[in-house]
Amino acid sequence: MSSLSAASIAHSSRSASLAGRVRAPGDKSISHRSLILGLLSVGETRIDGLLEGEDVLATARACRELGAEVDRVGEGEWRVRGVGVGGLKSPGKALDFGNAGTGSRLMMGVVAGHPIEATFDGDASLRSRPMRRILDPLEQMGATVVFSAEGGRLPLRLKGADRPLPIVYESPVPSAQVKSAVLFAGLNAPGETTVIEREATRDHTERMLRAFGAQVTVERRGPHGRLIRLVGQPELTPAAISVPADPSSAAFPLVAALIVPGSEVALDGVMTNPLRTGLLTTLQEMGADIALTNVREEGGEEVCDLVVRAGSLTGVDVPPERAPTMIDEYPILAIAASFAVGETRMRGLHELRVKESDRLAAVHAGLLGNGVEARIEGDDLIVVGCGAVPGGGAPVTTHLDHRIAMSFLVMGLASERPVAVDDSATIATSFPSFVPLMRSLGALIDFGEE
Ligand code: S3P
Repeated sequence: MSSLSAASIAHSSRSASLAGRVRAPGDKSISHRSLILGLLSVGETRIDGLLEGEDVLATARACRELGAEVDRVGEGEWRVRGVGVGGLKSPGKALDFGNAGTGSRLMMGVVAGHPIEATFDGDASLRSRPMRRILDPLEQMGATVVFSAEGGRLPLRLKGADRPLPIVYESPVPSAQVKSAVLFAGLNAPGETTVIEREATRDHTERMLRAFGAQVTVERRGPHGRLIRLVGQPELTPAAISVPADPSSAAFPLVAALIVPGSEVALDGVMTNPLRTGLLTTLQEMGADIALTNVREEGGEEVCDLVVRAGSLTGVDVPPERAPTMIDEYPILAIAASFAVGETRMRGLHELRVKESDRLAAVHAGLLGNGVEARIEGDDLIVVGCGAVPGGGAPVTTHLDHRIAMSFLVMGLASERPVAVDDSATIATSFPSFVPLMRSLGALIDFGEE
């Protein structure tokens, strides 16, 4: 706490019913990918609705360093003039990805497939995250790690392959970042690059590669898995990308509306890609009143307007195979579970230990600090809801994790006493407009200590 400025402390207080209609910012996953595919195609890619959070801005800067012209022409409106697969240059300085796991890992794939060298770095959170899961397949494709911190962590320097090899890679971890890095490296390899995933993860890379003209086929593999094949060395052609609202960001006003009594909130244009809707499924099983209206397609993804009304929730058992479809939503689900009646068991959360923070530990500590009964059993998080949360206590430690900060600020909106977080600055990585958007609905969120 002592190294953080007092201004980045924030707290939220019990609020009267929330009401209004808002749109969450553009999807973070799609925003990163649209810039990267813009870099890898020849000509002008037009993007609207880009998330202008720090994570994505770091990717935009990296695209420039690798040779693209990247311009902001209006709010959320960006133009990328790419250099094409094979046309990248070595950056003149280290690529600093800040807090962004997705940007850094996807870009490692891009660099690995080109005869260039780049240094990757980031903040303390990103420097602590595992990169071996990405480097292992990229080394198989011919890339080499020139140097790295212990265990292959950042800062690291990657030398791309002179002639990348197409591989068949079965990822030991369910990770869209690993899958995407291998596919991006495979773009500059001759022949077919194949990724096998035992559990299907978000498929924005596959969808967007097709939109830019690459040949990608997807088959089901086993009960939950997929096999993805990419034909290498395509001539990617620029596309117009309209970025839908991020379901992982919409999750915060959504859960706030469920737990603050009397609320009714509409969330416009939320992406409902089936590999991202685990939270909606779970909340509906808990008895949440969420209507999906005006279902339509935007930019190759299904979107809808959600209408959410407050009501009582019941604890449920969340199966482990649902994790990839809601991997970023467990912190906010744990908040909903605190206000539910009965126990919620979230199973198989091992991947949460290697996110922007150890989210399993951070959520557990934050819940206990605010008087909620919770425990960790193996990789399961169990939250014992009793319909009321005392709140208060020491500020929740966010460990440079935006989703921990936003989750606990949502908790305070319906707790008996205010809830504080030690660092709200981190929210700007994914949802810079979080505080004004929540306030526009009637949420009481303030900076500093209460
Ligand atoms: C992302 C994949 C997920 C997710 C992250 C975004 C992506 O990470 O947690 O916020 O855009 O590919 P993993 O691939 O590590 O599961």
